[in-house]
Amino acid sequence: MTSPAARARAHAAQVVDRVRAGRTLDDALDELFGHLPAGLSEERSLIQEMAYGAIRWHFQLAPLTRHLLDKPLAAKDSDLDSLLHVGLYQLLYMRVVPHAAVNETVSATVVLNKDWARGLVNAVLRRALRELEMLRERITSDETLALATPDWLLARLQAAYPEDWRRVAMAANARAPLTLRVHAGRIERAAAIEKLAAGGYAAHPVETVDSAITLATPAPVDALPGFRDGELSVQDAAAQLAAPLLDVRNGQRVLDACAAPGGKAAHLLERTPALQLVALDVDRSRLARIRENFTRLGVHGDIVHGDAATPADWWDGQPFDRILLDAPCSATGVIRRHPDIRLHRQPGDLERLAATQARLLDSLWPILAPGGKLVYVTCSILPEENRQGVAAFAARQPQARPLPLPHPALAQHARADGLGYQILPGTADMDGFYYAGFEKSGTGPA
Ligand SMILES: C[S@@+](CC[C@H](N)C(=O)[O-])C[C@H]1O[C@@H](n2cnc3c(N)ncnc32)[C@H](O)[C@@H]1O
Repeated sequence: MTSPAARARAHAAQVVDRVRAGRTLDDALDELFGHLPAGLSEERSLIQEMAYGAIRWHFQLAPLTRHLLDKPLAAKDSDLDSLLHVGLYQLLYMRVVPHAAVNETVSATVVLNKDWARGLVNAVLRRALRELEMLRERITSDETLALATPDWLLARLQAAYPEDWRRVAMAANARAPLTLRVHAGRIERAAAIEKLAAGGYAAHPVETVDSAITLATPAPVDALPGFRDGELSVQDAAAQLAAPLLDVRNGQRVLDACAAPGGKAAHLLERTPALQLVALDVDRSRLARIRENFTRLGVHGDIVHGDAATPADWWDGQPFDRILLDAPCSATGVIRRHPDIRLHRQPGDLERLAATQARLLDSLWPILAPGGKLVYVTCSILPEENRQGVAAFAARQPQARPLPLPHPALAQHARADGLGYQILPGTADMDGFYYAGFEKSGTGPA
């Protein structure tokens, strides 16, 4: 018989192994949780903590595991390697009784049907326990290990932020807060905070973002008072800037060109319900998420399947007054929420993404009305996708007049680069986001 604690370690190792093979962490966890019997909330949160932690510190745990193993494990035993990562994560980062953690991790080999590896896992983790101080010293004395960031990304960060690249890289290892968006049409922010407090959830307002509140301690969102009724949504405070920055008015035609799962589109409609909003996405499977969100929040927009780079396929010929382009990007600004990004992103992705972003900007520009505004957003912190991309766009499109984006959050917390604004992860507890705005010169209704 294996204990729940040993099963949790085995499950965490399986999730880590799938992520290392290319799955996203959210998908791998969802799939596992879909197969677990109902309940088991303690076991689920332990699995989640260990899987997130082992992925967050992957670029530290992998070399340390290699160092502790006499010879590398065969490819068919990658699950055992991942189990060792989970074991090491517990010893280095979790407040667990070390010997108990080792014993449960050793027993997890049985759950993985690899009883033969008990001795091996036991020997490696006991050695780690004996050498724990040495391992910690090794981490602090080696920058790549300490920052747990792949070399190519570290080089890009160093080039982009010569003064504080270490801090920027380290911010990706922090745990992100649970930030919520308050539906302005349904409840005032102060009332939402009171309602949460009455339900036992302490929360505080985000000073410079009037729709945002942060929970003092993360909690399952479904349980939060007001969540099911559409008073609250999960959204980082930096993402909550898109709607106010687009500067919309009721009756305007607005395109959210990359809309799924619909967070920013819903926010626009919560603030300004009588917009004529088209929520477009190229991924048909993600349109259902937009629909679910709109329904829960009681907002209305046209949900359209289409490629923003080919408007001829879906556009009705009437120019838009406003366009939001929340472009597909490297997501390097949200690694603290999705640590698997660091495992999956490759240096070559950046060129491809920058080309896509340029194509999207150029394809959407002609369908913006004269006098209309376009806001470009990424959750990237790399200039290749941000400043460089919008500068090249402005050079290609003489009609694109860069817009100042007056907002207290950008004024106080972002770095202005002359065209756009970069929020770095962790600044005022926000995710890393980039915003730039353009107005189309010429006369028109907007
Ligand atoms: C950063 S996410 C958007 C998040 C969304 N705006 C929100 O706030 O909930 C990027 C989205 O762009 C979509 N996408 C990527 N390429 C696209 C294209 N060529 N046309 C339309 N949508 C695209 C992806 O399917 C993905 O859903």
